[in-house]
Amino acid sequence: MKNNLELHKPVLLAEVLKIIKDNGCEKKSYLDATFGRGGHALEINSLFKGLKIIAVDQDIEAIEYGKKLFTDKIAQNEIIFIHSNFSGLTEQRDKIKNFIGKDGVSLILADLGVSSPQLDDAERGFSFYKDGPLDMRMDSSSQLTASEIINEWSEEELISLFITKGEVRRPQKVVNKIVERRKEKKFSTTDDLSYLIESTLGWRKKGQHPATHFFLALRLEVNQELEVVENSLEDLLNLLEPGGLLLVISFHSLEDRIVKYKFKELAETKGNILTKKVIQATWDEKKKNKRARSAKLRVFERRDNVR
Ligand SMILES: C[S@@+](CC[C@H](N)C(=O)[O-])C[C@H]1O[C@@H](n2cnc3c(N)ncnc32)[C@H](O)[C@@H]1O
Repeated sequence: MKNNLELHKPVLLAEVLKIIKDNGCEKKSYLDATFGRGGHALEINSLFKGLKIIAVDQDIEAIEYGKKLFTDKIAQNEIIFIHSNFSGLTEQRDKIKNFIGKDGVSLILADLGVSSPQLDDAERGFSFYKDGPLDMRMDSSSQLTASEIINEWSEEELISLFITKGEVRRPQKVVNKIVERRKEKKFSTTDDLSYLIESTLGWRKKGQHPATHFFLALRLEVNQELEVVENSLEDLLNLLEPGGLLLVISFHSLEDRIVKYKFKELAETKGNILTKKVIQATWDEKKKNKRARSAKLRVFERRDNVR
């Protein structure tokens, strides 16, 4: 089995650990809402003896990897794995309570977006650099795929998607070409789409593939990523014990904006924002890990006992 750090480097790890240590309180339980390859989970586990971990991921490959990574902890009944979108955790409340006892969870981390193994595996269809099926589902059992969007959605729907979720200012030219081409032959691979975008727009920004924002919009739509963040932060907070911490790492402006405004709204009734200023990676980390360049960490502390 490949070392988890060879597969995915956890971003803002030092900052996450510092916040937890600075908070002072002993943590008894940790819910990792986006387990990935367990980089954050392993390090947080080493801070507290006997920490109970609830490891959640909507990707079955992440769950299977985690079960191999934490065999000893499984044997000690100190970790459970839940294959689910974190938006569905309210339904798992009893399971979580049975595992950690009557108190709420001490700590929750949501490190949003895709993991490096998902991006690197051509078969998952996330990357415009690797040819694979036009898929982009983090949860392979869900219905909607990127190819369905590209092949079935109307011209207006595609334009609206690329503007709202990809922040592409004028997607019309690309959408016209998509609609023209799919009359002849449906899109089935990432190369099909990325070549079409590249030949339509050319390279405008050095180092940024012209398909970047189109692929981002498709991924966000397929996995309903923005909607899930918008609708789940309060449910995650409700799982915390008073004094418990919710840490969220986001990777692009639309996502970060949702976290920022949702935290502000929740601060009126449920607790305090601990990050008056958003936390970003150091220059050194950004140099070593490209993913860290856009990472933003915000932290919320649960105050009351309201459920
Ligand atoms: C950025 S990676 C997390 C990496 C992890 N912190 C580590 O250090 O290895 C994101 C992971 O979260 C999962 N994921 C993203 N959104 C999710 C959601 N709404 N519910 C459950 N899992 C999600 C993805 O499948 C992916 O495995």
